[in-house]
Amino acid sequence: MEYRKWKHICGGSLIHPQWVLTAAHCVQPKELEACGFRVQAGQLRLYENDQLRKVARIIRHPKFSEKLSVAGGADIALLKLDSPVVLSEHVHPVSLPAASQKVSSKKTCWVTGWGDIENNMPLPPPYHLREVAVPIVESNDCEQKYRANSSWNSNTRIIKDDMLCAGTQGRDSCQQDSGGPLVCRWNCSWVQVGVVSWGRGCGLPDFPGVYTRVMSYVSWIQRYVPEFPGPSMGPDGVRTTQKTLTTPDDPVTPPAGPASPC
Ligand code: ARG
Repeated sequence: MEYRKWKHICGGSLIHPQWVLTAAHCVQPKELEACGFRVQAGQLRLYENDQLRKVARIIRHPKFSEKLSVAGGADIALLKLDSPVVLSEHVHPVSLPAASQKVSSKKTCWVTGWGDIENNMPLPPPYHLREVAVPIVESNDCEQKYRANSSWNSNTRIIKDDMLCAGTQGRDSCQQDSGGPLVCRWNCSWVQVGVVSWGRGCGLPDFPGVYTRVMSYVSWIQRYVPEFPGPSMGPDGVRTTQKTLTTPDDPVTPPAGPASPC
């Protein structure tokens, strides 16, 4: 949210009770101060008995270029809230992936936001959060789509290594969804793999949405954001570090039977 009666500008996700992950271009230019933003957490509808939280600190990724904007990559930023959000059954931080997490193309993931529901069509009142399932698009495929359909002739890649594409005709994020989460489910838990960043139009067949690849930034995030949930305590009060389970990207054999295991 940005001042002047706190208008919605971008999405974000809670990755710790006191930290929000968003896009760097949502908080540019860097002259904008933390006091110029508010965060709404724990509500499905925008502007409904607004409980806006103050932002104590903005951390923009140092590699984000204001000149190149989203095209340059590193479109990622952290907001530290002035106090932690009270967690509940409905409000909980989303998990971050391991830096090595692979996201295979064709996997269906989900993106959420209060942004436009179509090109130039704002979300109408009562501003209920929307979600859409989007297929992951392989980066070379995505690169080719953008290249084939634009007058881009430089040798530099359009889809940088720290970007991830997802979406298909009519299934995409759109303006004002930026900063919001792209999540995939592995072994019954939701993991945020992308941050809404850019795209040509919205929902066009030849232009998937482009996301900041969270896997590329987990170590940067961990530099600022404490581990959540923290290392668990053993019976003697000794920290036991959680074993990291490596999740296969896609199970070789789909779970048997009609019942969902989650
Ligand atoms: N840059 C846009 C924003 O600031 C996000 C656009 C995403 N576009 C897309 N086709 N997925 O909200």
